[in-house]
Amino acid sequence: MNQETLPPHVLIFPLPLQGPVNSMFKLAELLCLSGLHVTFLVTDHIHTRLLKYSNIQSRFNAYPGFRLETISDGLPENHTRSGAELMEMFDSLKVKTKILLKDLLTSGKLNSDSRRPVTCIISDGIMGYTCDVANDVGLPIIYVRTISACCLWVFFCLPKLIESGELPFSEDDDLDTPIKSIPGMEGFFRRRDLPMFCRSGDLSDPNVNLYLPEVTENARAHGLILNTFDDLEGPILAQIRAFCPKLYTIGPLHSHLKYKLLGQSSSSPTSSNSLWKEDMSCITWLDSQPTKSVLYVSFGSLAVMTKEQYMEFWHGLVNSGSRFLWVIRPDAVNTDPTDIPLELSKGTEERGYIIGWAPQEEVLAHRAVGGFLTHSGWNSTLESVIEGVPMICWPYFLDQQVNSRYVGEVWKLGLDMKDTCDRVIIEKTVRELMEDRKDEFRKSADEMAKFAKQCLMECGSSYSNLERLVKDIKSM
Ligand code: UDX
Repeated sequence: MNQETLPPHVLIFPLPLQGPVNSMFKLAELLCLSGLHVTFLVTDHIHTRLLKYSNIQSRFNAYPGFRLETISDGLPENHTRSGAELMEMFDSLKVKTKILLKDLLTSGKLNSDSRRPVTCIISDGIMGYTCDVANDVGLPIIYVRTISACCLWVFFCLPKLIESGELPFSEDDDLDTPIKSIPGMEGFFRRRDLPMFCRSGDLSDPNVNLYLPEVTENARAHGLILNTFDDLEGPILAQIRAFCPKLYTIGPLHSHLKYKLLGQSSSSPTSSNSLWKEDMSCITWLDSQPTKSVLYVSFGSLAVMTKEQYMEFWHGLVNSGSRFLWVIRPDAVNTDPTDIPLELSKGTEERGYIIGWAPQEEVLAHRAVGGFLTHSGWNSTLESVIEGVPMICWPYFLDQQVNSRYVGEVWKLGLDMKDTCDRVIIEKTVRELMEDRKDEFRKSADEMAKFAKQCLMECGSSYSNLERLVKDIKSM
């Protein structure tokens, strides 16, 4: 067959973490639905877990143009790849995986008679070395950032913050001092809303080195895909566009895929890319709860609590009197599991339910869920926004400190509880969200959910931007 008549072939390479794998897998499905051939490249570690816990295998059958390929992240299998050791993974990817990626692209392994060689790479922009590889092998590259545009903009402004003397500062300085040198964030953005690593008081912090080149790094790529939508982050997107004119805002990706599948009357409307086993019993439990009565509590895939923090949440939730569904991952608390309570006492067990990992999208879409106590990871935030679920934010690190400020202060979708972990405050905040101010938060959450859904409809911004992306990939 004449290879030129075959569809373009995109290699998608996500950062090997739950959030980015989730959203970029949805992007892969969307591109397959648009008729492109896609190779989804994951590290061996992620591959093993996807095969064990997700329904990724069944998704292959849905798309003839879809392939899964694996690559080593260069770390031993027993490495945690989280918490304090996360940076080691970044370093290993940059050194070891870079060489393997180039070998893979030049090996001919990814093409066949019915599949063109790769015509475009889409990778997570935090892995800048993928752009070096793309340049070496003569391929165009588009970056995806799976964080919010508001946090990406903060990263873009890091050089300015240093130049103006607003960085560095330390944890002991006044964290309520306003930040002045980030255009578009004047007036409401404080030191405490910057990513956690900005508080280290040390410009040689490895995170500063990782994120400082963002503005020049992103400009190297042919384009930038963001998992957000124009009505949510419009003013900040306008700032980013000045540096990255080819900007494709196509989120919320998980719902975008659902809408496309429903449009095609697909019998399989959702995909699960979980790296942990989902406990479906929580859906049965939710079925028996009153409408909008349950607070869903989950701190994502990476956050690790101290025993003290865990106990504050435990008492705060129990004392709030609210119904709650709490996800406690097996590695969520940095103590021996026998050292902390995991079973609810009589009297609380009727209104509380604890599991190790939830089918989160389904939980947030459930009619019984009325609030989300979250770490403000970007996927979790978007999943909550589109379902119109108000949030209590307890950000842990990175973009989460920025996201939670936007949720509380700009979008008015909930309450930001950052930098506190006290049972009395938790109890009070839960009551505020679930009872005292519930109407106010539900109204703004419903309005934003409506905007999110509109952007996915035909001619909506995310819908049109995806069409533009596909057209641009086809013209490469
Ligand atoms: C990490 C960063 O911490 C986050 O700030 C960044 O935006 C992306 O990478 P993570 O901790 O994985 O994210 O949080 P998040 O982005 O919210 O992603 C978690 C994903 O896991 C969500 O898609 C959520 O639906 C899923 N999840 C979470 C489950 O399926 N079940 C659960 O029980 C908890």
